[in-house]
Amino acid sequence: MTQLIEKINNASSLEELENLRIETLGKKGILTLEFAKMKSIPNEEKKAFAQNLNEQKVKVTNAIEAKKVVLEKEALNKKLENEKIDVTRFNNELSCGATHPVVETMDRIITYFQNLNFAVEEGPLVEDDFHNFEALNLPKYHPARDMQDTFYNKDYTLLRTHTSPVQIRTMLKQDPNTPIRMIAPGTVFRRDFDITHTPMFHQIEALVVDDADKVSFANLKHVLVEFLQHMFGDVEVRFRPSFFPFTEPSAEVDISCVFCKGEGCRVCSHTGWLEVLGCGVVDQNVFTAVGYKNKSGYAFGLGVERFAMLIHNIGDLRSLFESDTRLLGQFR
Ligand code: DAH
Repeated sequence: MTQLIEKINNASSLEELENLRIETLGKKGILTLEFAKMKSIPNEEKKAFAQNLNEQKVKVTNAIEAKKVVLEKEALNKKLENEKIDVTRFNNELSCGATHPVVETMDRIITYFQNLNFAVEEGPLVEDDFHNFEALNLPKYHPARDMQDTFYNKDYTLLRTHTSPVQIRTMLKQDPNTPIRMIAPGTVFRRDFDITHTPMFHQIEALVVDDADKVSFANLKHVLVEFLQHMFGDVEVRFRPSFFPFTEPSAEVDISCVFCKGEGCRVCSHTGWLEVLGCGVVDQNVFTAVGYKNKSGYAFGLGVERFAMLIHNIGDLRSLFESDTRLLGQFR
């Protein structure tokens, strides 16, 4: 008996203790088997026999319970020690953020034009019909309004579909005789969603205004060729006649495909060219709408996402807005 109690006290794990319990008190344990002998014990000895066995059982049970408390406490302490978290510890593996490719591209373009002395202007995202359409030579029911699927609000305001209304706001806020050289970066909204369209995206607008005949299409062309070669490297630039209500003449500008160098590939639909922006000479109707006389100007507008995708070879526009750290991590 003393040997058994000693074994219990020396048990080094809960498992060992449990085995000792089974060996003594389990179905086939030594003490259990002793109790079974009761039947064959003469009646007059039964009481003493049972008493003795019960005393032993109580001793063993108590010893096991006591040891169990000690071992459980030890196990808990060990677990706590192993799982300890030092909340003050600096984890070198913490990944740090990166500038989103759209913001980075926007910043690059802004810096480029600031270096050419362009001011950075802003306008509201919730616009009215006058600034977003009417003053830009897009009268009501003009078919060209269909080019831009607009989100309208109940109060006849709308989410601006392009950054061009900032041209109007800038011209209205300053004296018509002060020359303008501005860009307007910002968010725009259209009801469109597929691989190449998201309902929210970013544009950069530019407007240059001065006395009539001081600003020409040639100036526009020079500025854009320099700009596009700064952004995309050694590319060819071509101007294709096009239509925008607020410019006349208007052009769309293509660069030779940055992926196949103009040979023709999937990205450029085998044309060798990529369309990158719209531009033109400011339509006189726009000047009339803001009360400017004897002025000339040029303007252009570009999609920032399109630039970011071409610069970083990103295939699906939507991936720019999914906040997937596997994409963003590549720009760290
Ligand atoms: N606002 C046009 C658009 O969203 C882009 C644009 C084209 C802007 C020609 C201009 C421009 O200033 O001259 O599609």
